[in-house]
Amino acid sequence: MIPLTGQQNSILHAIFRVMRENFLAQKWIYAVAIAAMVIVASSTAASAWIMKAIFDVLSNDPLAYSAPVVAAAVVIILTGKGLSGYIQQVALAKAGNRVIADIQRKIYRKVLQQEAAWFDATESSDILVRVTQSAQAARSIIDIVVTSFVRDALTLAGLIGVMVWQYALLSGVFLVLGPLAVLGVRAVLSRVRRIMTAELVSLTEILKVIQETATGLRVVRAFGLEAILQARMDRAVRDVESRSNAMVRLESITVPMIDALSGVAIAIIILVSAATFVPGGKASSGELMAFVTALLMAFEPAKRLSQMRVSLEAAFVGVRMMFDILDRPDAMQDAEGCSDLPVQVGEVALRNVSFSYDGRSDALKNLTLVFPAGRTTALVGPSGGGKSTIMSLLLRLYDPQEGAVEIDGLNLRGVTRQSLQARTAYVGQNTFLFATSVRENIRMGRRTASDAEVEAAARAAQAHAFITALPQGYDTQVGENGVLLSGGQRQRLSLARAIVKDAQILLLDEATSALDNRSEWLVRDAIATATRGRTTILIAHRLSTVLAADEVAFIEGGRLVEHGGLTEMLNGNGKVAGLFGDAGLVRDVA
Ligand SMILES: Nc1ncnc2c1ncn2[C@@H]1O[C@H](COP(=O)(O)OP(=O)(O)OP(=O)(O)O)[C@@H](O)[C@H]1O
Ligand SMILES: [Mg+2]
Repeated sequence: MIPLTGQQNSILHAIFRVMRENFLAQKWIYAVAIAAMVIVASSTAASAWIMKAIFDVLSNDPLAYSAPVVAAAVVIILTGKGLSGYIQQVALAKAGNRVIADIQRKIYRKVLQQEAAWFDATESSDILVRVTQSAQAARSIIDIVVTSFVRDALTLAGLIGVMVWQYALLSGVFLVLGPLAVLGVRAVLSRVRRIMTAELVSLTEILKVIQETATGLRVVRAFGLEAILQARMDRAVRDVESRSNAMVRLESITVPMIDALSGVAIAIIILVSAATFVPGGKASSGELMAFVTALLMAFEPAKRLSQMRVSLEAAFVGVRMMFDILDRPDAMQDAEGCSDLPVQVGEVALRNVSFSYDGRSDALKNLTLVFPAGRTTALVGPSGGGKSTIMSLLLRLYDPQEGAVEIDGLNLRGVTRQSLQARTAYVGQNTFLFATSVRENIRMGRRTASDAEVEAAARAAQAHAFITALPQGYDTQVGENGVLLSGGQRQRLSLARAIVKDAQILLLDEATSALDNRSEWLVRDAIATATRGRTTILIAHRLSTVLAADEVAFIEGGRLVEHGGLTEMLNGNGKVAGLFGDAGLVRDVA
């Protein structure tokens, strides 16, 4: 879990903020719900109050209203109660669902605005829990506030009114007893927050196990990791289960108290009404009936009100998580005064760039490297040397701590993200495909590409033949991250996606590493065509790929060790030549 910033520690502050940001946004639907609640509350009180009239009629009291009047009143009151109860429930749910939808949209928009470093530090299961659970928590807070302060409080007030009206003396007794139940709640509040936080952590773990099982299935099977995963899952599930139980116990702590109090209450009624010597203690049976009814009805809202603090506290944990992410800055916004890159761009350069992912060790150390316009430069060197990092900086996934990344002399920090994105195409070291059709995956490169253009790109990437052999051709679904395709097929689709974009700067991170020799040879041709007139940077371990380059740069330990023309480098006696063995052989192939 991402550590919380701690600014949102006050529950009152959180409630006010939820009410201001989410409740007010749906104020009209909530207004309908609240109006209905007022009717629910008053008709509930009325239904207790009418008991006296009913009882008077039944006991043939000469002062009673006529039977038809009372009967009609009962029907009207109960129908009104039912109808307003329905409206209240539907309106409350509608507003609540809209609040959830709004928040989920907002959080996701925020997630998209986060920098790559945040994604490095945040697990996807964590993001999932945030988007789903915290929205639910905000809705709960509003529901609790609205139903407690409007429906329950009003209902309780109405019923107490009936009680006082019918039997003032006894009412006094309960008004003293009632608040006792609420005292018990204070004791448990601090535990609620801890349990809820732990429950969300376990929930995240459940999602993580499922995710890792699905995406890592082959590794799981090959290494027989089922038992380990099952154990992790069991633990997480058990934790969530026991924490849910603990929460219910805390939330329900007032139930036995209130019920015990209700027993005491009825006992007092029996004793007091039997004791004729109590002055004013005698009430008519009708009055007594209405009083008892009101008393019994009052337990429900009283119970809910006494649970309110606990429920609020539980929801607070989720809401805090929500604010934590909503309050993050929009890292993807362009800084003040950014300008678009020119339409035609060429030279790409890193100047004295130092960059560290974690602020401790440097992935790039004072690196200066110029990629000349319209030429292809191969980055080679040992694994972990910093080649992919250079591409990440060019894509502006990260900004260097020192030095500048430039395109045609413009520092990328001063360039709009949109224009940078429009000028660059990228094939990553790890292919990524969306769970949609082949065609749509290629079209992700350029949303406006026609079917013919998609097909041309696929041909260039040597993908057309295998695509047409698929069951539904270009409309075949590729599965999650393209699982239904082979590694080389996935790579060719990624390549086609970059080619269809037709961008001026092409970044290929081992874009052909998974291809067999023949396919690679053919793709190399395609790349040669695609890279003509473009500034291309390709990372390669294979000599055959490097041969497509005009220049070669050797990166090791975050530094530029060697840089020069292809033939010069291969035939020299430096690192590049050493990497690819016999340079004489190479010259023949080239
Ligand atoms: N997201 C990240 N967070 C922290 N460190 C990272 C991250 N990505 C890479 N590194 C570290 O930065 C260094 C350079 O990694 P980079 O991916 O640039 O190497 P590379 O030259 O592309 O290697 P390879 O040839 O294996 O792909 C490595 O030490 C790696 O551990
Ligand atoms: Mg790499």
